[in-house]
Amino acid sequence: MEIKPIRKAVFPVAGLGTRFLPATKAIPKEMLPIVDRPLIQYAVDEAREAGIEQMIFVTGRGKSAIEDHFDIAYELEKTMSERGKDLSVLEPTRLGPGNCAYVRQQEPLGLGHAIWCARDIVGDEPFAIFLPDEFMHGSPGCMKQMVEEYRTIGGNMISVLEIPHDKVSSYGVIRPGQSEGAVTEVLGLVEKPKVEDAPSNLIISGRYILQPEVMRVLEGQGKGAGGEIQLTDAMAQMIGKQAFHAVTFDGNRYDCGSKVGYIEANLAVALERPDMADEVRAIAINLLK
Ligand code: UTP
Repeated sequence: MEIKPIRKAVFPVAGLGTRFLPATKAIPKEMLPIVDRPLIQYAVDEAREAGIEQMIFVTGRGKSAIEDHFDIAYELEKTMSERGKDLSVLEPTRLGPGNCAYVRQQEPLGLGHAIWCARDIVGDEPFAIFLPDEFMHGSPGCMKQMVEEYRTIGGNMISVLEIPHDKVSSYGVIRPGQSEGAVTEVLGLVEKPKVEDAPSNLIISGRYILQPEVMRVLEGQGKGAGGEIQLTDAMAQMIGKQAFHAVTFDGNRYDCGSKVGYIEANLAVALERPDMADEVRAIAINLLK
């Protein structure tokens, strides 16, 4: 079967972000910065690095800051140029009309439903999904690592990582088959299992490459765990019909949907930045005394 390249990425950003209230009452969770770049910017940069050309954002009410972020800020740029300031810092925020699209998820019915809302723009080709609050930090980026494997094996792919077994109940978990290098065959998937029912401690971690047939599966799918339409349930139905693999990410993942994960990500990035690492290290050591 022909392996079609991944040209499109879907960014579901219509969630309510209740774990970060009140910060996320008027600002989307995806606009929270890691040092000085919003989470959504890191995800878009990771997509570009993987060769993806079109970014599709599934938004909801109160998410217009994301559209503004990727638009041209005319007044800001004019004033900055008049004052002789460097505009290159804004370069990654520019997504031209051919490179982005926005669709609306009118009710937060779950991640699976959010993806389904993008079906017309995705069309009949494989596509990537990024959950921007899962901050995947590494070089090459997580999606680039996945795309490199995808080029030879095709099919459906998810990124996974290993966590302590007693923590699996908050995540989608895979039933692993044979492994070769970073790639593991996926034999089954279960969303938020009880610890005793979990088939492994390998969890799905926010990056996916899926074949367009998943949209048809989502179409007819009812609610799953938490009363939401779950992407994991739709993917589980595709196993056995199409190739399905997991790629273990060589890098660090920070769960920025949680407060502690978010603080950890900020610290980790700040400690790597040449413009601030020494100062931040000194502050951290001082605070820990
Ligand atoms: P989360 O489970 O993190 O939910 O969604 P949330 O609503 O964003 O945050 P909390 O739990 O209330 O704090 C995982 C991803 O799926 C998107 C979210 O935006 C996030 O990227 N999502 C979730 C939607 O786009 N729509 C939904 O209906 C649910």
